[in-house]
Order: sequence, then C-alpha cells, then structure tokens
Amino acid sequence: MLEQLPRPSDPRLLVGSDTADDAGVYKLNEETALIQTVDFFTPIVDDPYAFGQISAANSLSDVYAMGGTPLTALNIVGFHPKNFPLEVLGEILKGGYDKAAEAGALIVGGHTVQDEEMKYGLAVTGLVHPEKVITNAGAKPGDLLVLTKPLGTGIITTALKAGKKMGELEKEVIRVMSVLNKAACETMVAVGVHACTDITGFGLLGHACEMAAASKAALKLRISAVPFFPKTQELIKNGFVPGGTHTNQLYLKDKVRFGQGVSQEQATLLFDAQTSGGLLIAVAPEKADELLERLQSNGVEWRAVIGEVVESQPGTITVNS
Ligand code: CO
Ligand code: CO
Ligand code: CO
Repeated sequence: MLEQLPRPSDPRLLVGSDTADDAGVYKLNEETALIQTVDFFTPIVDDPYAFGQISAANSLSDVYAMGGTPLTALNIVGFHPKNFPLEVLGEILKGGYDKAAEAGALIVGGHTVQDEEMKYGLAVTGLVHPEKVITNAGAKPGDLLVLTKPLGTGIITTALKAGKKMGELEKEVIRVMSVLNKAACETMVAVGVHACTDITGFGLLGHACEMAAASKAALKLRISAVPFFPKTQELIKNGFVPGGTHTNQLYLKDKVRFGQGVSQEQATLLFDAQTSGGLLIAVAPEKADELLERLQSNGVEWRAVIGEVVESQPGTITVNS
C-alpha cells in the first residue's frame, strides 16, 4: 500500500499514489515501464525459512497485481543478534532468495538495521509494457470478479501465534501464502482483463473498496462463492481475530452493506487482514470462461467467481448470501 502523497505532474508517472494501487509505475520509453513496490513485516510463522518465502511472495505480488514481471529486488531487514542467532537471519534470507529465484527475479542487495522486533521484506522492481499496465482503476459495470486464493490467513496465523495447534492446516496455510501470484498474473495478462489488485493487509473488502473507488463503480459480492480456509469461522468464534482485521472493519463500515444471511463470522473473514493473498481480477463477462479455463490449465488452484461490478454508488460494496 502506498502512502497518499500529492501526485507529481510528470507524464512519465503512469500510476502514482492517488489511486491507492499496488505499486508505482513509471514509463521509461514506448516499450518499457518500471514497476516499484516495497513491503516488509514482522514474522507471522515460527519457521524462519517459511517466513522468508512468504514475505518475498507477498512483496513480489504487488508487481504481479499490476500485470508485470519482477526483475530485481532488495532485502529489507530488521534484526538484532542479541535476540536470535545469525542462522535465523540466514534462513529468512534463504527463503526470500529461493522465492525470488522462483519468480525469475534477482536479489541484488539490501539493507539491515538493528531492530528489537525482527522484520523482513523486499523492495521489488518489475517491468511492464506501458500500454499493458493492469491497475485497480479499470473495472467496468458488468465485469465478473475472480479471486485466486482463499481468505483467513490473518485468523489462522493469529491462532498459531497464540499457541493453538493446527496440524495439517498450519502446513496448508504456509504453503498457500508461499504460492506466487505469477501464474495467475501471466494468465490474466494473456487473456486481457480490466482491473486487478492483490489481497493483503486491508482484507478482501479493503482492497475491493479501493478497486471500486478507483474504478468509480460499486461491487456486489456473493458470500457463498468466496473461498475460505477450513476452521476459520470456528477460530473467529473463539476470539482469534487480528487487530488489523478489526481496524479494517471499523474503517470500512460505511462503505460495505451486508444483506440477510451473511453471518458475523463470514463478514469478519471478508475484513480479515491477509498476508500474500490472491489476486482479485475484474474481467469482462465474455472473457470470464476463457480466464477460468486458462487459470486452471496454468495450475492456479483457486478460481472463484465471487461477484460482479455494478453501477451504483462508487466505492461501495454490497455482500449478499
Ligand atoms: Co503491498
Ligand atoms: Co498495496
Ligand atoms: Co497490493
């Protein structure tokens, strides 16, 4: 997420901070534009290698959300050797390195500061053709909305941090957060879509609201179509809800309307702060089948049509059962 700053009046700036998009895009010439983004956060899982992989996948995702290809990345590290042995940092960096390699990107350097609270992430530079940038601002009434990962990573990692034993679900949530949005991105670029954003800290509804506002449209979601990790509703009932999810709920309460048949737990999941979530894609209805088929043949595990873009009060979302 970019800070809201005044937009520089330079025609080479294709995407700035004014539309709350995933990354900045700067045109170099008629063929090439640079994508730049940065993300880093504190550990969300115990395994340092897995944390490195997840954080790198999350940082790379903002390039994929713009329809781009990651090129290079810089490590950003907060670490204090009195709190953890250096091997822990080595494992985190190896996780990030391996994930960047999988993305076809090179980690070319970085910076470490002494920090009581460990942090890791990447500043990523990517490339995109200036006419093929996919922003969050292009959604049109009638478009279908496709989501490519299940929700609930905030709920589950909060329960894990509280010491709850999760067995196979822990492995599964780590695996899903580590999955790159590369195949989903390449597929949507090949098919041609109207808008995209990735689902991270503001939750599905936060990022969907940004897409709706930037696109000057409204969104209608069907809760029964939204994929969730198993056990998440039960965990919410037991109080495992991260602070960021509550913040999202407060911040968005005037922009989202829930119809009958949407439970409180389901609503909470839509607000849940995600780490390394999937892409939310707005696609013209006549291209939706092709997108879904090609996502499947390219190995994208989740391809849920969760709603549509409608002509209503811009920047708002209605959720029905
Ligand atoms: Co981001
Ligand atoms: Co962002
Ligand atoms: Co993003």
